[in-house]
Amino acid sequence: QIIHLADYRPTDFVLERVDLTFELDPTNTKVEARLIFHRREGVDPSAPLVLDGDELTLSGLLLDQNEIPASQYDATPESLVIRDLPAETPFEITVTTFINPEANSQLMGLYRTSGVYCTQCEAEGFRRITYFPDRPDVLAPYTITIIADKAANPHLLSNGNFLGGGNYDEGRHFAAWFDPHPKPSYLFALVAGDLGVVEDTFTTMSGREVKLKIYVEHGKEPRAAYAMDALKRSMKWDEERFGREYDLDIFMIVAVSDFNMGAMENKGLNVFNDKYVLADPETATDQDYANIEAIIAHEYFHNWTGNRITCRDWFQLCLKEGLTVYRDHEFSADQRSRPVKRIAEVRHLKSEQFPEDAGPLAHPVRPTKYREINNFYTTTVYEKGSEVTRMIATLLGKADFKAGMDLYFERHDGQAATVEDFVKCFEDASGRDLKQFSLWYQQAGTPLVTVSSSYEQASGTFTLSLEQMIPATPGQTAKEPMHIPLSFALILDNGSLATPTAVKGGEVTGDVLHLTERKQTFTFSGISSRPVLSLNRSFSAPINLHLDQTPADLAHIARHDTDLFARWQALTDLAIPNLMQAARDARDGKEIGCDPALISALLEAAADETLEPAFRAQVLTLPSEADIARELGGNNDPDAIHAGRNAILSAVAKAGAKAFLALFDSMKVAGPYTPDAASAGKRSLRNIALSYLTYADGTPARAAEAFATADNMTDLAQALTVLAHRFPDTPETTAALDTFLKRFDGNALVIDKWFSIQATIPGAGALARIRALMENPRFVANNPNRVRSLIGTFAFSNPTGFNHPDGEGYRFLAEQILAIDPRNPQLAARILTSMRSWRSLEPQRADHARSALMTIERSETLSTDVRDIVERMLKG
Ligand code: ARG
Ligand code: ZN
Repeated sequence: QIIHLADYRPTDFVLERVDLTFELDPTNTKVEARLIFHRREGVDPSAPLVLDGDELTLSGLLLDQNEIPASQYDATPESLVIRDLPAETPFEITVTTFINPEANSQLMGLYRTSGVYCTQCEAEGFRRITYFPDRPDVLAPYTITIIADKAANPHLLSNGNFLGGGNYDEGRHFAAWFDPHPKPSYLFALVAGDLGVVEDTFTTMSGREVKLKIYVEHGKEPRAAYAMDALKRSMKWDEERFGREYDLDIFMIVAVSDFNMGAMENKGLNVFNDKYVLADPETATDQDYANIEAIIAHEYFHNWTGNRITCRDWFQLCLKEGLTVYRDHEFSADQRSRPVKRIAEVRHLKSEQFPEDAGPLAHPVRPTKYREINNFYTTTVYEKGSEVTRMIATLLGKADFKAGMDLYFERHDGQAATVEDFVKCFEDASGRDLKQFSLWYQQAGTPLVTVSSSYEQASGTFTLSLEQMIPATPGQTAKEPMHIPLSFALILDNGSLATPTAVKGGEVTGDVLHLTERKQTFTFSGISSRPVLSLNRSFSAPINLHLDQTPADLAHIARHDTDLFARWQALTDLAIPNLMQAARDARDGKEIGCDPALISALLEAAADETLEPAFRAQVLTLPSEADIARELGGNNDPDAIHAGRNAILSAVAKAGAKAFLALFDSMKVAGPYTPDAASAGKRSLRNIALSYLTYADGTPARAAEAFATADNMTDLAQALTVLAHRFPDTPETTAALDTFLKRFDGNALVIDKWFSIQATIPGAGALARIRALMENPRFVANNPNRVRSLIGTFAFSNPTGFNHPDGEGYRFLAEQILAIDPRNPQLAARILTSMRSWRSLEPQRADHARSALMTIERSETLSTDVRDIVERMLKG
């Protein structure tokens, strides 16, 4: 059954208040829901009340405290329909259900993780707890009472402010919570169990003191310190940058070890995958720290963008997710290095979102139909959604963007809003028409902008011709031209930027050129000598760009652009043709060469001490095998791409051996580990130098030495990765893997790294290794983090191993999807998306991939989640 945006209509009944009582029991929890409704004005007085359920059995139903006769309602596991309800006056419905948290392996609704009760309700999990109008436009204040065994559950938590608690009956106690802010059911949360807690406070800008609590497993309290610090910085930043103040007396975070996603922004009670809370120098990498900071901020920022202003329906998901990703990106940029953060964002966007947008799962940022909403928590909704918000900021400029955000917060506070509401705020605040711009929400596919330019000395004019093309995507063949904001610079010979005296052909505001037509020519006058064009600086628009630039022009940009992102982009653009040619040569069995201009440009940037180390590390990190595959566009042979890339890496390594040795020595960070961006940047440069050094000398000795002397997890994991990936099955690697395992045994999050590093060892032996690791007792088949770290990492991040030419990787994945699906459909569907680019493989692999997908499709017991993904992948 397919849900369409066009079919939206409000509910017949308005929900006024929600009062829930839970009597927790591991296998038989009683839920009593008292719901006060009234019929919406103008609604047919005979219309029944329809509530959603999922695998529920009704055990009691009252209307204003009187039993409802069986003839007046119909209850199935999926719905409860009650007829003959009052036409005008408010009434109270009391629904009683019994649920089994222990048996809930989907991790949606109320479930158990390591003996703790926990909930996940977004998107449609609340209906697994009680019958309810489970949709985001039904908002109400909630009162929650939790009753549970006191010894096993000293902490009883829910949304809002704590009302009180005490002993209940023998062995049991209770706690009551009230959340005054009307919210939809997907933001409900309940946590109960025996947990350790870290406490702090934050004083808001208006002087209110807020209690902060992070709950973790006993003994892990010290590992929550960084998350707490990140939380306080997030709260402060949202006040300063967006004027947003926290609105309850308490803010809680609970870290759990079984969680389908990263984290969840339940009002006042965020629930996190513990991977994004727990960190200490011995067990967490710099990347882990950065992820924790970003996700703590993301969930906290949802308090305003998501909770205070929520979504009218799930088609509007990007309204909260795209905007909140934009906010967390800006936060991280302010906390760390802005250009380095931007590079990382664009790398992620291109490696995850661009393939999605170019494959069978492509969909608009704001989809118009879905079969399973869980399958739309995608990189398109999140990351492209964030880029669309960023473009609004670019188009409007700082002041108008801020005015638009302020208007949005003021106008829609307490509402369930739409993308149109959001865009309208920016139109009203700026006076700009954003109708054409709104196509970014509606049209799927990554626009391709093709550019040519010419310079005429005699008249001092520079002419720029642009053409935009938006590729066809499933369900969308013809597309309209979009409004594409392109930041640009005209860089003169001496490195300075030209300032044109006049522009014709279209709108230019500041350094932003507005491409609005399918074909458009801009003429710049007053340019004294031939400039080098730097276009789409800072990645101002999420597009593919065809701009034929000579290596000399790219090197000029790499040396002189004032936008550091553009300098990195120029070096990447220099590398891409080399990597593509290397892949073709490897496929054809030809000798692989590397342009000396690329090598010297990379080494020049790497040695430039005016550039921060983190930036230089980004420059030295060449486009990934997946990036090269995307650039090649089709008929891809992952083995050839891998061989070609390795040859280029070796060429750079050999030419730069001395420089890499110098970096390896000079970038050593002295003193005890701190996760700050500057130290992390030095470590990243040092570790990429180490990787090149092993390409240059071809022996595991240096990496083994780095492994033995590492005094933090970043260096340790990097050294182990170099050993395992470059020198698998050598005594050095075997010994290091063994040492690592012994040292961190019992720490599941670190063992996940041990699984992932081995899951990404390239080559034909990969699958055998995966199968052996699945037999390891540390691999727990129903823990999402374990499954992702081994099976997910293999499928998403081991191109040669997973894409074995005989198709064994795909058959393995099919077998695993069919095994995971009955337990946890969301997890199965997510991992299956690793095959989203199967059509761009060479024919033999593509055939194997298709057969594997068809094996999945033939199963008669598939979840809606997996059926939706597999059918779209085969059809699109
Ligand atoms: N809203 C959460 C976040 O962005 C993600 C929840 C995803 N849930 C799901 N069922 N797909 O932080
Ligand atoms: Zn989010």
